[in-house]
Amino acid sequence: MKLNRAERLVVNNPVRVMIQRGVIRWIKGVTRIAPQARVLEIGCGRGAGARLIQEAFHPAVLHAFDLDYRMILQAGRYLKVGRRGRIALYVGDALRLPYRDGVLDAVFGFGVLHHLPDWRGGLREIARVLKPGGLYCLEEFYPQFYQNFLARRIFLHPEHDRFYSHDLRKALTEAGFELQGRLEQKRLGILAVAVKQALI
Ligand SMILES: C[S@@+](CC[C@H](N)C(=O)[O-])C[C@H]1O[C@@H](n2cnc3c(N)ncnc32)[C@H](O)[C@@H]1O
Repeated sequence: MKLNRAERLVVNNPVRVMIQRGVIRWIKGVTRIAPQARVLEIGCGRGAGARLIQEAFHPAVLHAFDLDYRMILQAGRYLKVGRRGRIALYVGDALRLPYRDGVLDAVFGFGVLHHLPDWRGGLREIARVLKPGGLYCLEEFYPQFYQNFLARRIFLHPEHDRFYSHDLRKALTEAGFELQGRLEQKRLGILAVAVKQALI
């Protein structure tokens, strides 16, 4: 689901970049991504996360996409040619990733899964495109944070089948992930690195 005007203001500002910088620092402390890695960011918004991923991990390939073409236009401006490096931007849907099975080393998603009406389908799609041992690095929010009295009146999110901590962890396991690290506030959300397990 695309953002409304209020949430676009919340995510497209320097405070959000500072928060994302902290998120990436935490991820870097938990895991390692090799320089030859093929990396995807889903729901990249205006591209601040993609730039931080590139600066932190220098992957060989970095793709980033968003459902909202206006975000991709903004990302194109934010990651101005020359400073963009290897980041390829496109408009796409997290529920239909345009990759073959098992080709990516890492998928990043900052605040995206809770925008998907079929978030379990989104998790399955991420698991599908990751190699065994590949990483899903996520920052997610729980309904107490975005479906409270005030947030409901300001922002726009899918209403049904929302995930709390235990739902997300169960669905991650069902999609074939094991948590490598997590930092969680159960009334707010979670930062986590999940590793795709090899099929036995
Ligand atoms: C809360 S914003 C986060 C943006 C950015 N990742 C950040 O952290 O600042 C969620 C983003 O997910 C995008 N989005 C929502 N549904 C999507 C989908 N099905 N596929 C891809 N992107 C989606 C929205 O357009 C929006 O840019």
